[in-house]
Amino acid sequence: MSDIRKKVKSLRRDFELDSLSKSDVTEEPLDLLHQWLELAIESELKDPNAFVLSTVKNGQPDSRVVLLRDAHEEGLQFFTNYSSKKGEDLVRNNRVSLNFFWAELDRQIRIHGKVDQLSAEQSDEYFHSRPRSSQIGAWASNQSHELKSRKLLETRIKELEERFEDQEVPRPEFWGGYLIKPSYYEFWQGRSSRLHDRIIYEQDGANWKIKRLFP
Ligand SMILES: Cc1cc2nc3c(=O)[nH]c(=O)nc-3n(C[C@H](O)[C@H](O)[C@H](O)COP(=O)(O)O)c2cc1C
Repeated sequence: MSDIRKKVKSLRRDFELDSLSKSDVTEEPLDLLHQWLELAIESELKDPNAFVLSTVKNGQPDSRVVLLRDAHEEGLQFFTNYSSKKGEDLVRNNRVSLNFFWAELDRQIRIHGKVDQLSAEQSDEYFHSRPRSSQIGAWASNQSHELKSRKLLETRIKELEERFEDQEVPRPEFWGGYLIKPSYYEFWQGRSSRLHDRIIYEQDGANWKIKRLFP
């Protein structure tokens, strides 16, 4: 067996940092999500607001990392190119799965939900809070479509910098936000000997049913 295959096979660690009991959990999963995000941010982890977003097209799941930009009673927000692969998937199937993973905290959160586009005003507001270079980048990138050469992208950036010189960069119509409305959450806390704590919230009308799962 090759060296890397042997190494991968023998990687092992135990999880001993924390525990999660039903008495620790909040009535609303959003409050627990806020608490876990807070600790991830305070712990100065890299990209504490990053999560894996999975979409499905014709039965084929696909996943990528995006950044959470807000989490409130209405749902969870992220921003992207509406014409990207994920954007095209979401037009046909608005069901998504999310996974936040914080290795340093031995924690993950799994979420299921349905997605809607944010209003143009909400997307405008966030777009204008971004650094100018990211605004130009949004215009320049035909995200997920073939790029014949890196040079082409660099030329586009230069042209756009000239086009928008001395003016506010408007939000491109093809770029904006989504709101994910969660219907299921799982909070996972790694425990010793793989006896992890798993607490789930299942939507039950206006309420949440809370259960513990076997690890
Ligand atoms: C840490 C991190 C954060 C990212 N955040 C975003 C984001 O907020 N929005 C986005 O469109 N892409 C983001 N990306 C890039 C995506 O993972 C992905 O490459 C891109 O959105 C194209 O995905 P698609 O072809 O499936 O649409 C991020 C990547 C990483 C590694």
